Amino acid sequence: MKILSTLLLGLFGAGHAQAANNCTIALKGDDAMKFDLKEVTVSASCPTITVQLSHPGKMPAAAMGHNVVIAATKDMDAITRDGIKAGLPNNYVNKADPRVIASTKVIGGGEKTSANFPGKKLIAGGDYTFFCSFPGHSMLMKGKLVVTK
Ligand code: CO
Repeated sequence: MKILSTLLLGLFGAGHAQAANNCTIALKGDDAMKFDLKEVTVSASCPTITVQLSHPGKMPAAAMGHNVVIAATKDMDAITRDGIKAGLPNNYVNKADPRVIASTKVIGGGEKTSANFPGKKLIAGGDYTFFCSFPGHSMLMKGKLVVTK
């Protein structure tokens, strides 16, 4: 038993070390208006952070579209309001909004998309949220983006 627990500790330790240098935010958003994760950790030292979104549902983008927007938590509500004005043709994001750190296009069921941004746009320990800016979705479709050094 002693050996087994030492092995398990070793495995968990390795997992944490990997998470500390994670450079990918991989999310699924479905027809139930949910992301599969509530929290993602990335490193501000990543030269490039990749945001990957897939929609395993069946509903079209106009009805159940999802995107991923990365921003400071305090900016989420204002970004979402301005995104509604921008509309679906602009992926519910005001392209000129400097508060938007990164955003993907809006996709529907069966689709995938991705976006990249430099890790240096994030500050380790900052308060960030990932969310969907489709009208009404950010109430449920949001999670904490933890940023390490
Ligand atoms: Co959505």
